[in-house]
Amino acid sequence: MSLKLEKARAYEKEHSKKIVGDMRPAFHLSPYVGWMNDPNGLSFYKGQYHMFYQYHPYNSQWGPMHWGHAVSKDLIHWEYLPAAIAPDMPYDDFGCFSGSAIELEDGRHLLMYTGVTRVENEEGDLVDCQTQCIAVGDGLNYVKYEHNPVLTEADLPEGASKIDFRDPKIWRDDEGIYWAVVGNRSADGSGQILLFRSEDAFSWKYFSTLDENKNRFGKMWECPDFFKLNGKDVLLMSPQDMLPEGFEYHNGNGNMCIIGEFDKEKGIFHEQYSQSADYGIDFYAHQTVLKQDGKRVMIGWMQNWDACAIRAHDEVWAGQMSLPREIWIENNRLYQRPTSEYEACLKNKVEYKDVEVDKNSGELQLEGIKGRTLDLQIRIRAKDIKDPYYKFTIYFAKKDKLYTSLSFRPYENILKIDRKFSGSRRAILHQRRMLVPDSEDESIRLRLVLDRYSCEVFVGDGERVMTTAIYTDIKAEDIVFACDGEALMDIIKQDVIL
Ligand code: FRU
Repeated sequence: MSLKLEKARAYEKEHSKKIVGDMRPAFHLSPYVGWMNDPNGLSFYKGQYHMFYQYHPYNSQWGPMHWGHAVSKDLIHWEYLPAAIAPDMPYDDFGCFSGSAIELEDGRHLLMYTGVTRVENEEGDLVDCQTQCIAVGDGLNYVKYEHNPVLTEADLPEGASKIDFRDPKIWRDDEGIYWAVVGNRSADGSGQILLFRSEDAFSWKYFSTLDENKNRFGKMWECPDFFKLNGKDVLLMSPQDMLPEGFEYHNGNGNMCIIGEFDKEKGIFHEQYSQSADYGIDFYAHQTVLKQDGKRVMIGWMQNWDACAIRAHDEVWAGQMSLPREIWIENNRLYQRPTSEYEACLKNKVEYKDVEVDKNSGELQLEGIKGRTLDLQIRIRAKDIKDPYYKFTIYFAKKDKLYTSLSFRPYENILKIDRKFSGSRRAILHQRRMLVPDSEDESIRLRLVLDRYSCEVFVGDGERVMTTAIYTDIKAEDIVFACDGEALMDIIKQDVIL
């Protein structure tokens, strides 16, 4: 083991002891200690799910990237393992950037990641040189491949950038061939996804350019994932520098899902439908894994690059993963819902039906509905369909001046999350509005998954999701309902108990 990895392992073991009790989220993965960004190498290996992540253990800011490591039997209860890899080789000394993992036919676990070094360009500026590298291990310890890097500038098609060439996602097809999609920047400055092929997962060749951005959706495309789902082919990626379009792509550094058809012979993806994968503030670099029951599950980094200042610099940890979400395609859209393993953790049901929320009820609190680690399923409708209310608001993580609000305006079909008063001391992005599809029965169904430091809102059957991190004092646990007209609400509260 290299000195760098040994040092990281000793550091995390010692300093993670400072993070105790409710300082961490209860069922969302946070870093062992220090900084976390993208999920990496999400895979099932030797009876459990492995999650690696972009990791800088030494403080709560991005720095030379290591891969942190955790395992879980159900993607809900996580156990930390020692850091898997450190930036300790000449080809990755600036960082081991994002990537993926797969079990080889001989039973070894293979990590494919981006090795980054810095080189001087013609103008004398230091720029990245990004290559794809491999490490192989047993689920605990990994050895970097002696012939790394396995994909370099020499493997790139004409015009492809060697500065932006990262985040390989690997899979094996039915014939036993390994494939990897990698994010890249083409000569026009925008993103493209390159497809590489290998017979043994070690020796790789460029196969095709799977998809080209042509400056439509942001610029560089990071962190691709590509898979079949309900008879369609799906490309997920995270575009940088996005322009908003209507109610889509408001995040600057956005997250996307493109649904289409893959021409396997030519290696070309024909796009059909595109959308944001998540409409909240904090969701990026989403990656999927096939669960043992055949369901595909997606997890994203629950943070936005533009709003990292929500976390104070002197915190012991920064960054969390989203809930694992089962995904499927319906009506040519990406649907998401919490996994069955999450459902199995729901206890202590409290249920109310036809609760009147109106001007006279003021700020309404309901007995038994309060807390920071819970699941709320809420259905709201106007008491009289001919006299709709203007705005219905749910305040949560509330105490004195602190709260986050989720409000719905049926006139405009707009759902808005606002964390301005969540305890943030920075003037950064705090609000996001999302268009909600019309419902057949004039009601809105919301499911709020609250962990200590986040809120994920699933709308209807999961056709839209909105995710936001909040770092409110854990004592703020009131939940309050308010409406400026006359509304009726059904509500089911369940605690998430691990
Ligand atoms: C996305 C990203 C990846 C890169 C990693 C570096 O959030 O920029 O493209 O591999 O983070 O930490």
